[in-house]
Amino acid sequence: MLNKLKEISEQARQAINSVQTIQQIRDLQTRFLGRKSFLANASQSIASLAPEQRPLAGKTLNSVKKEIFSLLEEKQKSLQKQEQGIDISLPGFPVEIAGSHPLTNVINEICRVFEDLGFEVQQGSEIETEKYNFQALNIPLDHPSRDAFDTFYLQLPADRTQGRYLLRSHTSPSQIRIMEKRKPPLAVVVPGKVYRPDNVDASHSFMFHQIEGFAVDREINFSHLKGVLVEFGRRVFSADTRLRFRPHFFPFTEPSAEVDISCLLCSGKGCPVCKHSGWLEILGCGMIHPNVLRAVKINPAKFQGFAFGMGVERIAMLKYGISDIRLFFSNHKKFLRQFYEV
Ligand code: DAH
Repeated sequence: MLNKLKEISEQARQAINSVQTIQQIRDLQTRFLGRKSFLANASQSIASLAPEQRPLAGKTLNSVKKEIFSLLEEKQKSLQKQEQGIDISLPGFPVEIAGSHPLTNVINEICRVFEDLGFEVQQGSEIETEKYNFQALNIPLDHPSRDAFDTFYLQLPADRTQGRYLLRSHTSPSQIRIMEKRKPPLAVVVPGKVYRPDNVDASHSFMFHQIEGFAVDREINFSHLKGVLVEFGRRVFSADTRLRFRPHFFPFTEPSAEVDISCLLCSGKGCPVCKHSGWLEILGCGMIHPNVLRAVKINPAKFQGFAFGMGVERIAMLKYGISDIRLFFSNHKKFLRQFYEV
């Protein structure tokens, strides 16, 4: 009896191993566990055994039944899984094609406009030192304007000549990096991320994007700056966009100006977006300060330059009527999808 049970267990194991369809599983179920199977009728045979042999035979019978049952069940599950995997009649999963981020689109568009105007596009470094983020830009250590550029400092030993390491708080240090390596004539724009420890709200983020631009050559003057920026405004916003230059202060430019464009929504008539002024501030600019040129060993008696810096998020928000800067960084597909370019 025990030998017979062992034999059946072995047969079942082999048969189940080579099963390939659900139907075969059902056949084996009938063959090994069905009403007419040896196992189903084995209880009666046990009754005819000598009393001392019955307990072991009963136990073995049960464990063989259990084993075959669970092997069949396991096989059935794995076959079902396989069949699902290759069921070509099931509807497929739609493949979502992603698009570029709205900020990428705006950066590309602005850079293309400046490229058309003769500028080249370069990258800067997000990790800077005090020398490049401040000193070389005419912002000495004790200069009060440094407070305006609240800064994330890195927990690294300071460089002996360049000071502490930091996350750049504006893209202006790339002016220094480029002028240090190359001689005029230069006309460059540098897009990139900048960092400031601001509390996040609808109009602030601790990381945002700027585009820096500058040109250096002999006899560059403020009207070149105006010409370039007016053209930029017309091409990036609309052909009838007007610009307003307001005197301002930046340590790295002299004279300096803040530039407003005529409000995109009301064309200057006054509305809630421009706070009824008709104007929207979009960038800072000016003639590169002689001290900045000196810092990169360019002689200010021979060369002049203009520079400007703009916030990309602000421009994108104005251009598309977006009221909360956090939307750019929250990765909501419904928001992002609106800006996919085909
Ligand atoms: N770096 C300034 C800022 O982050 C923006 C800026 C102003 C850049 C005037 C310039 C400039 O190049 O000339 O607020």
